[in-house]
Amino acid sequence: MTSLLVETPAGAAAGDDASDALRRGAAQVLLSNWTGASTVPSRGLYPHQWSWDSAFIAIGLRHLSVRRAQRELETLLHAQWEDGRVPHIVFNPSVPHDAYFPSPDFWRSSSAGAAAGAPAGTETSGIVQPPVHALAAWLVHLADPEDSRRRGFLPRVYGRLAAWHDYLTGPRDLGGGGLAAMVHPWEPGMDNSPCWDAPLERVEPAASGSYRRADLDHGQPSERPTDLDYGRYVRLATDYRDGGYADAGTGHAFAVEDPCVNALLIVSEHALARIAAETGADPAPHEERAARLTEALVERLWSPEAGMFLCRDLVGGGLIPQKSVTGLIPLIVPGLPQEIVDTLVATARSTAFRLDEVPMVPSYDFTGTVFDPSRYWRGPAWFNTNWLLERGLRQYGHTRAADRLRAAMLTAAGRSGFAEYVDPVTAEARGTRDFGWTAALTLDLLMPAGQDGQAGQTGSGAPGPGAPQDATVGADA
Ligand code: SER
Repeated sequence: MTSLLVETPAGAAAGDDASDALRRGAAQVLLSNWTGASTVPSRGLYPHQWSWDSAFIAIGLRHLSVRRAQRELETLLHAQWEDGRVPHIVFNPSVPHDAYFPSPDFWRSSSAGAAAGAPAGTETSGIVQPPVHALAAWLVHLADPEDSRRRGFLPRVYGRLAAWHDYLTGPRDLGGGGLAAMVHPWEPGMDNSPCWDAPLERVEPAASGSYRRADLDHGQPSERPTDLDYGRYVRLATDYRDGGYADAGTGHAFAVEDPCVNALLIVSEHALARIAAETGADPAPHEERAARLTEALVERLWSPEAGMFLCRDLVGGGLIPQKSVTGLIPLIVPGLPQEIVDTLVATARSTAFRLDEVPMVPSYDFTGTVFDPSRYWRGPAWFNTNWLLERGLRQYGHTRAADRLRAAMLTAAGRSGFAEYVDPVTAEARGTRDFGWTAALTLDLLMPAGQDGQAGQTGSGAPGPGAPQDATVGADA
């Protein structure tokens, strides 16, 4: 089994002209999106630091500059709240408030979040995003373990990462079954997924004149969530804020358990065990928690009828009968029962997702009545979810499918100008361009095997052929 924690995929032939051009293009996006302390997902549409974006970005940035990748994660973790939550946005104070909505004066973290331990000197949002961070920290460490040890990288981040997981498995176990719950559609990161259509029906939208959508200054309305969706997002965020961002005892109008979030938590918990061992702490509690979470994931979210994992609606009750890519992502979890793995791969190959037939796996069921190939998380293919699927397929020995997906992702990334997402059939660009995690994960997929994680295991930590050295981006971190 090829775990996500030890290897990168078999890479492209090093030195191949097309790969070199792609590597240079991806590096250029990451250099342009770097702000000095972190990387914006996009200069126009998302001009601050986003939580799961930063984790995916660090996974690619480590091939360009290990120190920047460390800095990326540490900037984010520095904005952690005392209750352990890692906010989904860390605001850059030099960016004008009207550049992004909802801005710091909407979230008011330092005042409204004070009781939950929001930092006094940094403005953030009050919600979270999927926990990719411990996985990213471990992979960043593996890129150059000697430098990581010399700089004390893992000892500095271990406590914060452990507190983050304590938050998700403690106050956020709203269902009481051992999984982390999400209380806003922005939290699982797949904002307008059809999975949330029914749970959002219960939410009274905020008045449309009470805010201004800045996203439409940069994106095509047909490729973004609708105004009705936004009204509901604003209502939920307002109510959470006005309740002091408290989790316990809050009457959440929206609370769901999401397979991708919990699968990432499990993989990150395994990473935390390795980080613990590396820093001289006891890995056992982390391995035990990963095992408990895996059992809970299968018990609470596996649907034999659907042939995949589904989201659980904690307010309305029951599993949500919508097939989203989120329900395939648990392929990244090690040690799943073989029957579940086989069924997940069969579902990925079915008419719902068409793995092996279309360039990239869509975010939502091709056969679903509300499938839309262009609108954000209602059909388009995203690079982070496909990277996770590629890793999951490889982990369970589906090497040919993983190789094909990897090649298709690289082609789509280059041709689309590192698009935020693409039409899953034509691979035409959708959303914004020069998108951070698309570029970062392209760099990661381009790394020949043995040039980072594996090299890291043996301690050489050499950058891959064609990968710029730290010096080319300045010793700024
Ligand atoms: N994805 C959201 C947005 O579009 C927020 O995280 O702004």
